[in-house]
Amino acid sequence: MATIPQNEARGNFGSLMGFVMAGAGSAIGLGNIWRFPYMTGENGGAAFLLIYLLFVVAIGVPVLFAELAMGRASQRNPVGAFTVLAPGSSWGWVGGLGVLTGFCILAFYSVVAGWTLGYLGMALSGTFAGPVDAERSGAIFGDFVADPAMAVGLCILFLTITAVVVRGGVQKGIQRTTSVLMPAFFALLVLLAGRSLTLEGAEAGVSFLFAVDFSKITPTVVVQALGQALFSLSLGMGAMITYGSYLDRKASMPLAGASVALFDTGIAILAGLIIFPALFASGADPSGGPGLVFVVMPTIFDAMPLGGVFAVAFYLLLATAALTSTISLLEVVVSYLVDERGIGREVAVWGTTAACAALAVPSALSLGAVSGLSELPGVGMGFLDLQNALWGNYALSFGALMICLFVGWRWGVQPALDEIGASGQPLPAGAVWGALVRFVCPVAVGGLLVYIVVTQNYF
Ligand code: TRP
Repeated sequence: MATIPQNEARGNFGSLMGFVMAGAGSAIGLGNIWRFPYMTGENGGAAFLLIYLLFVVAIGVPVLFAELAMGRASQRNPVGAFTVLAPGSSWGWVGGLGVLTGFCILAFYSVVAGWTLGYLGMALSGTFAGPVDAERSGAIFGDFVADPAMAVGLCILFLTITAVVVRGGVQKGIQRTTSVLMPAFFALLVLLAGRSLTLEGAEAGVSFLFAVDFSKITPTVVVQALGQALFSLSLGMGAMITYGSYLDRKASMPLAGASVALFDTGIAILAGLIIFPALFASGADPSGGPGLVFVVMPTIFDAMPLGGVFAVAFYLLLATAALTSTISLLEVVVSYLVDERGIGREVAVWGTTAACAALAVPSALSLGAVSGLSELPGVGMGFLDLQNALWGNYALSFGALMICLFVGWRWGVQPALDEIGASGQPLPAGAVWGALVRFVCPVAVGGLLVYIVVTQNYF
């Protein structure tokens, strides 16, 4: 296939650094700080972490390069990428499923992102002042999410902010935000981990995170770990296809991809080192569900000098990290509507945002505001948990499987490797990558999904 020229008007990231910042901005977000600890806590700690890391290396990184290559080679959104790389085929629907998945992830992600705004407001108004133990913090969270107007309003506010940024276009919107945020966020997290690790009773949290108990590994734990690896790296629905299309051919894709994966995984582990020591020090329950981080963090701020100031900084940076992720989710849907459906950018942005807000309402109300949504009959979980499992684990796993099959068996490993190495720097161990994409990932992910369906061990 002839190389498709890159179009400046599409909005390339100016430099390698610009791409890494935006890619890391998409990857790093609530997935690291909110979802990772909550999944780890519910799934046995160290055993989960071990499998998650294994999946990052063996499946996440290979899929990341598959997506980036598809995006840069085709210069398209997820749907367009499949149809350009396999003309006349029906592969486009995989991209379509990805767009739908991104939309549905955005609809629950924005609920949690709204909580960060609420917590920012509470930190500013001094709600966490005075002694805050796990019990008081749990009560604050419980009251907060049970207020329907608050939960829905903050989520819509967050979606609106996302829409405003995406409306402004890729380069201006995304790159500027991330290059300031990332270093500051990282520094603050290191500091918080230092405080958490030196709390009395912190060791129990460290061993929860690192002392592997193999009896904890069940098929459900494995699926959740796979889902988390994909979710955290923004894989399986085409976000990295879209971002790959914006990466300049002169920039090294191997370096860009490796940096994003490294930063993202490092921040997740750092989040674990903040949450679990403090959690065990304060006696909270590791399987506390989606509220986990929100319950634990105030107890850390309570235990540090200038805690009030750090709390404000933390929620502000977390909200911004969440924003760079919601931007990437919305951008996928919008670039599909603009490129494939010929819809104007403005209409695509606001239409998607409104529809997403509507789907977000039941999730926002599922943490206590409406009891029927908190414990759905038959599934034993709330609406938000269900969306998280459905789209965040299953749809992404299925998407990653299809992407591997497409690149490995349809488009081809060689053209993909050519695109990855287009800057002159090839992917190290390209043959290993080819084998992972063709055989290991499809067998592992496909096998796991088939096993889950056959045994009906969904959650
Ligand atoms: N990776 C982001 C996080 O960890 C969330 C995210 C952004 C995402 N874009 C995505 C997840 C695309 C899956 C697919 O917070």
